[in-house]
Amino acid sequence: MSSERSATAVDQLTPEQAEQELAQLASEIAEHDLSYHQNDAPTISDADYDALRRRNQDIEARFPNLVRADTPSEKVGATASSGFAKVQHAVPMLSLGNAFNDEDVHDFFGRVRRFLGLEDEEQIDVVAEPKIDGLSISLRYENGKFVMAATRGDGQEGENVTANVATMDEISETIAAAVPDVIEVRGEVYLGHAAFQAINEQRERDDEATFANPRNAAAGSLRQLDSTITAQRPLQMFAYAWGELAEPVAETQWEFLQALKRWGFPVNPLARICNNAEVAVAYHQEISELRADLDYDIDGIVYKVNRLDWQQRLGFVSRAPRWAIAHKFPAEKAQTVLQEITIQVGRTGALTPVANLAPITVGGVVVSRATLHNADEIERKGIREGDTVIIQRAGDVIPQVVEVLQDKRPDDSKPFLFPNHCPECGSLAVREPDEAVIRCTGGLICPAQKLERLKHFVSRQAFDIDGLGGKHIDAFQAEGLVNTPGDIFRLRENHEQLRKREGWGDKSVDNLLASIEQRRTIPLERFIYALGIRQVGQATGRQLALHYGSLVAWISAMQQATSERQNTPDEFKKAELVGDAFSGLCDIDGIGISMADDIVQFVGEPQNVAVIEDLAASLYVEDAAQPDTSSSEIAGKTVVFTGTLETISRAEAKATAEALGAKVTGSVSKKTDFVVIGADPGSKATKAKDLGVPVLSEEDWQTLIGG
Ligand code: IVH
Repeated sequence: MSSERSATAVDQLTPEQAEQELAQLASEIAEHDLSYHQNDAPTISDADYDALRRRNQDIEARFPNLVRADTPSEKVGATASSGFAKVQHAVPMLSLGNAFNDEDVHDFFGRVRRFLGLEDEEQIDVVAEPKIDGLSISLRYENGKFVMAATRGDGQEGENVTANVATMDEISETIAAAVPDVIEVRGEVYLGHAAFQAINEQRERDDEATFANPRNAAAGSLRQLDSTITAQRPLQMFAYAWGELAEPVAETQWEFLQALKRWGFPVNPLARICNNAEVAVAYHQEISELRADLDYDIDGIVYKVNRLDWQQRLGFVSRAPRWAIAHKFPAEKAQTVLQEITIQVGRTGALTPVANLAPITVGGVVVSRATLHNADEIERKGIREGDTVIIQRAGDVIPQVVEVLQDKRPDDSKPFLFPNHCPECGSLAVREPDEAVIRCTGGLICPAQKLERLKHFVSRQAFDIDGLGGKHIDAFQAEGLVNTPGDIFRLRENHEQLRKREGWGDKSVDNLLASIEQRRTIPLERFIYALGIRQVGQATGRQLALHYGSLVAWISAMQQATSERQNTPDEFKKAELVGDAFSGLCDIDGIGISMADDIVQFVGEPQNVAVIEDLAASLYVEDAAQPDTSSSEIAGKTVVFTGTLETISRAEAKATAEALGAKVTGSVSKKTDFVVIGADPGSKATKAKDLGVPVLSEEDWQTLIGG
């Protein structure tokens, strides 16, 4: 599936292309996360979404040094939507990596074996169970009493949906058995097919929009602000995991499921132990044949390493545990006509082609649009307007165009000509060398870019101004009220004009102005992210904020880097040759030359500096809080592992070091604090000695980290 995502196979990509594509994938995936998790309104199919993530994962696997600070692999879902109180999860609610075929499952077992350093004879048991297509939920019990339920949100912070969950029949208020003082039971809330159909029939009778699928209906039901409505929806749950737990209750995943059952939680009756990859794959096949007869939607099988001590050692990598994987079912397909290709202009000027399809029902959902990603994708698949195409989706709304049926092509059809001018502002649209994206060169002259930048500025992860969404920005810009981000903070001076707007009473204006005032103080990381610099996502915003500490320090370093960059010809692009400020920027974890270039280009544009200065004059941008480095000997230190480690695998050593706050890098420089050497260390050990960097044996290292 992944090979269909882009013109170039992953093993053929040049580093430049890979870097570019990773940037594109990061922003695309972030957008989809937002529509899916926050607005309950996905705009692409699950299959399409998974393909994007997989492509990202494949490129990252081949180019580990290009993994971005804001890599989608690190993120789960989107931040909590307003309307519910926010809840910090004591233990993050994470996501799962995906396997799309049997080989991926074998690879998973292989990775577990290598990470744990297990002999070939050692059996790896996994618990396999259906992956429920619902919403994850965390239920907190204190002294056996139900005290709180939270949705996943972005994995760190969810929404408090206690009142709604309390209406669910399957969730008891008290646990009759003896349980630890604090337990958080996690699982999936879903709606059965019969219930889903009944709800939609009722909505049709009431002339209300129907839900696209059971998952959306379950989400809509659980996130009702009025819990009496939730009470009318027969939501169900399967429990499968835990969050905070005052004391351990099991030694294996399987025993934990048995404990859940004893405590009265619904556990999926199809769960089973599989003792190797072949057995797991056979289980996947067996359940896929059962799938149509189940009363609930499932979209794959989840395998979890059974031994909890192994789970503990395997730990997590970015957004997902190393000890579990979701083995997805293949996508559903259908045939339709691609009526028109339209072009959307994004915040950074990227022109994205969109396929407008003759509406068609695939697996119970009507779909009418699909993104075509870029010009290469259109050319590679040979897509033309008027073509009959095969589309596919798995579980959700908008599909992917898989192939064109050439024999159904109309006689008068012509290849699609990608515009060489921006359809919004008429500026030249260009494709930079090695870029898949064609961009409008209009910058802030282009109304579409300007508008998208403003929308990004007020979006949830950025300034998150309550009551000021994309639609308001559209209207305010059209009315000349808001042209630049700084204008938002001048709206109070235009309050008379606001009050005259149709449908806006004093109360709504006062509320809006109050929420704008609340955002006059903003953390540096959000401020940087809100600027909408190409490739700079939330994680990079955070990295930059942590590194530079204050707005003044960041801007002056960026201006210095900009002038260094402007004075260095492209052929000397290597970070160190450009200058100290530029190389300092490139040294930040996850920031490569291409991202650094985008940042300095942004700061190099007088219009952008004007926007920043304008904002700085009316806002208080908070300095970044530095992390507490007191707790661990190696927090904040840069470590390089080299040679063959004997007591643990390289991956486990790296994970442990990172968990203790260290940064693990691949090459030795004068910034390296320690080099840990195993057997046959090679040139890195020599380089460390030359540079006077302390060299530790594996044993010294174990002593240093206290274990
Ligand atoms: S185990 C640490 N088991 O799938 C994560 N997840 O795509 C442990 N899901 O976030 C998750 N059925 O919301 C697990 N039987 C199952 C599941 C399941 C559905 C969801 C869950 C997770 C998402 C990842």
